[in-house]
Amino acid sequence: MVKVNSCVFISGSGSNLKSLIKNSRNHNFPIKINLIISNNTNAYGLKYAKKYNIPYKFYSYKSRNFFERNCLKELKKRKIKFLCLAGFMKLLSKYFIKNFRYKIINIHPSLLPKFKGLNTYNRALKNNEKYTGCTVHHVSPQPDSGNIILKKKIIIYDNDTENSLKKRILKQEHKLYPEAIRCSFR
Ligand code: GRF
Repeated sequence: MVKVNSCVFISGSGSNLKSLIKNSRNHNFPIKINLIISNNTNAYGLKYAKKYNIPYKFYSYKSRNFFERNCLKELKKRKIKFLCLAGFMKLLSKYFIKNFRYKIINIHPSLLPKFKGLNTYNRALKNNEKYTGCTVHHVSPQPDSGNIILKKKIIIYDNDTENSLKKRILKQEHKLYPEAIRCSFR
């Protein structure tokens, strides 16, 4: 199988990155992770880039223009055709997204279209939701609004806290994200 050259964008802990790297090492997984980009030089997830010997770049997002120009240059140089946002906490411009039409996906910790944006666990609890979960979707210029690829629902228990929800959802994210990538290439 010819794998598609791909890049993962991160800002923080990188647990989804780790799961994507592990999956991408299977010969029948559709993408190869050729590059990791972080806007945060201290992102814990960069540890996985080093551990698995994957090239990585840090670009400051102080200016979005600067960040995106550098990314585009590097992505072009490495012939990257597919982007996965995994805990990447910045917004990408319409112009940037246009360069990768339907080739940028993201994972979000709620059942979209419910609870776009931040603090999804807390908002689900406060709203007395019976369920929450995670969603993998295409990236469009409006945050957390692109076409949905896959969702996974989990039950919210009476004794759940933000932390317990986060933990259970992340566990599902690590399975859902690779599955959504498989779906995207079917
Ligand atoms: C995940 O909850 C993801 O849904 C959200 O940011 C978090 C990233 O976690 N977009 P990690 O960096 O992959 O551990």
